[in-house]
Amino acid sequence: IVVSGTRPTGNLHLGNYLGAVQHFVLMQEMYESFFFIADYHSLTTHPNPRDLHANVRTVIVEYLACGLDPEKTTIYLQSALPQIPELYLFLNMHAYKGELERVPTFKDKVRAHPDNVNAGLLTYPTLMAADILIHKGTKVPVGKDQEQHLELTRDFAHRFNQIYQREVFPMSQAFNTGSDPIKIPGLDGSGKMSKSNNLNACIFLRDTPEEILKKFKSATTDTGPTQLNAEKSEPIANLFSLMQHVSTPETIAFFNEAHASMTIRYGDLKKQLAEDMSKFLAPIRERVEVLENDDKYISEVINTGAERARQSAQRTLDEVREVIGFRSF
Ligand code: TRP
Repeated sequence: IVVSGTRPTGNLHLGNYLGAVQHFVLMQEMYESFFFIADYHSLTTHPNPRDLHANVRTVIVEYLACGLDPEKTTIYLQSALPQIPELYLFLNMHAYKGELERVPTFKDKVRAHPDNVNAGLLTYPTLMAADILIHKGTKVPVGKDQEQHLELTRDFAHRFNQIYQREVFPMSQAFNTGSDPIKIPGLDGSGKMSKSNNLNACIFLRDTPEEILKKFKSATTDTGPTQLNAEKSEPIANLFSLMQHVSTPETIAFFNEAHASMTIRYGDLKKQLAEDMSKFLAPIRERVEVLENDDKYISEVINTGAERARQSAQRTLDEVREVIGFRSF
């Protein structure tokens, strides 16, 4: 069983697609899967209500545009499952302050926002464990930064099973489709396409060809290769790495050759890359445009997803309540 969540922080970018959503689309064919919007998790940073709602809708629309298919997988909002906060409460009774404080993502957040160290932030990993364990998820497609959370999920699951002497929860594992997780660089020469690093260095799935061209035009480069067969500098290597995902082998070979022979013109490279990127994203952008205006379809998807997810969640919760000792009279 595959379970994964995405926090609603607005438009998805190429890194989100190639690093995650693209794999979700493959997984829905092979496994029973649950893909949800982690809207409770986003409350740790106190979004305003209008933004929250709009961002949730954006992710749903873009998930669907990328090819997640409500006939093949279960797409839902975390906030539509009352079973999740209930399991979160039970898991919190056996989650210790010390182990939660040691989580690197928690420590990072404390450092970045010392004025907002709330209990929801501290217990972020218990809520995430509840998301996964509520469906007895075994495979969790997440990036490297989430490994610690999965380790805690296993600790909580194991602890629960031990305390109640029942094999209620499986051990969940991070799940990446075979090859090494791909790293999608930004356009500013930095390592990773990330909204928190630099918005202008991100290509969003909704960007128009004009916007994409503009972003590539201002992408960071160097002053050109200084010798034959020179190694590529980081910003140039990044542009080539993006090209790997959207351009033809001929195009890639052409620009590699041009770099090696010092005849490369970065302006041409950027124009070609922008064009190939726009072509690559066109089908997604076109579907976004259609879905964006189809309120009826969106609410249908959300409601059927929620219904299916609640059934799965309730089965687990009934077992959990019984095991803990909440039995009917
Ligand atoms: N913590 C994840 C992130 O920041 C989002 C998330 C919440 C999640 N619950 C989850 C991912 C459950 C996988 C499974 O990306």
